[in-house]
Amino acid sequence: MRQTAASALLRAVLALTLCLALALPALAGEGEGGKHAASKHGILLVAFGTSVPEAVTAIDSLKRQAEAAFPGVPVRLAYSSSIIRHKIAAEGTIKSSPAQALADMAAEGFTHVTVQSLQTIPGREFEDVRATAEAFQAMPKGIRQVSVGRPLLFLPKDIDAAAAAILPTLPAHKKGEAVVLMGHGTEHPANAAYAALQLALWKQDPSVFVATVESTPSLDDLIPVLKRQGVRTAYLVPFMSVAGDHAHNDMAGAEHGSWANKLKAAGITPKPVLVGLGSRPAVAQLWIDHLKDADKELGL
Ligand code: CO
Repeated sequence: MRQTAASALLRAVLALTLCLALALPALAGEGEGGKHAASKHGILLVAFGTSVPEAVTAIDSLKRQAEAAFPGVPVRLAYSSSIIRHKIAAEGTIKSSPAQALADMAAEGFTHVTVQSLQTIPGREFEDVRATAEAFQAMPKGIRQVSVGRPLLFLPKDIDAAAAAILPTLPAHKKGEAVVLMGHGTEHPANAAYAALQLALWKQDPSVFVATVESTPSLDDLIPVLKRQGVRTAYLVPFMSVAGDHAHNDMAGAEHGSWANKLKAAGITPKPVLVGLGSRPAVAQLWIDHLKDADKELGL
């Protein structure tokens, strides 16, 4: 008998608690400037950008993957390269800068925004994206909270994950064949990420190599290594979100200094593969995972 009375009381207390829990957010949500004003959640993807029309498919498929991971959350896209933005604007395609995209989102009432950089390494481009995003967090009546996702190669576990994700997507290669990944490369200390990636790849497959267009290791560093190992054919694969200008020209292009021509001159047959990382869903998923991690930081 006493137990029944106690459980009836408990039920009444629970019901009251539930009513309050349902009513409170509605009350607190009143007024735009209120401490608990309603939140509006959005995502901004930032790519360097590309002027190569076929390369846009890699960015589009990354965006679709982000939209699938966050149903109902608007996903916007910005290009961080002003050179690319101006070049494509002249051809009739308008893309926002990260600052413009964030300003638009602030004006549209977004309160919580996760920014995911589609860079491969935490170099200068990434630092600029982060600084821009953080600046928006400091603006009165603007976006209340911004969280920035890490680039592809950031934590040690990211480097192992990137190696594990890309290896099964590479062309099958037999004895005498190698795969050379083309990273961008930079003078920024983050260039060391490529050496870390090389080590992670070698743990699984000693015939997959990494070189960079603009820094170290260069293809010139790599050619003597390939020759010593008796490599006769090398698949060339861009290690960038898109197979854009660098992939089409510096890697596979017909001009004198292209990787394809340098390899030919060294007696190695080049086989360029013009597919960006964004078009390899297993690799693209890593950026999406980083986006999810950053989004959790918003505490929504
Ligand atoms: Co470049």
